[in-house]
Amino acid sequence: MTNTVDVDKRRFLTNATTVVGGIGAIAVAIPFISSLSPSAKAEAAGAPVALDISKLAMGQMLIIEWRGKPVWILRRSDDTLSTLATLASELSDPDSDDLGQQPDYCKNPSRSIRDDILVLVGICTHLGCSPTHRPELAPEDLGPDWKGGFFCPCHGSKFDLAGRVYAGLPAPNNLVVPPYHFVSDSQLLIGADPVGYG
Ligand code: FES
Repeated sequence: MTNTVDVDKRRFLTNATTVVGGIGAIAVAIPFISSLSPSAKAEAAGAPVALDISKLAMGQMLIIEWRGKPVWILRRSDDTLSTLATLASELSDPDSDDLGQQPDYCKNPSRSIRDDILVLVGICTHLGCSPTHRPELAPEDLGPDWKGGFFCPCHGSKFDLAGRVYAGLPAPNNLVVPPYHFVSDSQLLIGADPVGYG
């Protein structure tokens, strides 16, 4: 288990560095880079993490760290959102009835405050690996029915692009949606509920 977690942490950090490297303007929001400011250290310890999503392109995913966990921020297209509505029969909890997996304000079909922006804790609900973002349709290794989502390489669990788990695979629950809210159209605060919640 320890080895698995170490490998996952390395994978997460590698992925995070890779993704953020392509979004230079957002890189300042990453708290685990070597030149941590005092405020960034506070964020890594558990304080909310603010970030600018104005440069997040359609289909692009940003990874940050919050409370020592990877948090994914993905911008979804209308096509992706339409696909989500077709998957219910294949999922364990299509309506997000397990209330422990998301805040009340994200118990909806897109599992998000704003349909286009998905925010998830990127940790598999089976044994804690970090799944891989696999947005492509019908790749050879995932089969002709794959409609884009997240694939956990440790034991094969699959999640759709709302973080809902496919049935019959090891992971028992949907991926966790952390508390968050929009400070403005382009500013997101991870780790704090909207006013009136929490
Ligand atoms: S940890 Fe993800 S499937 Fe086992």
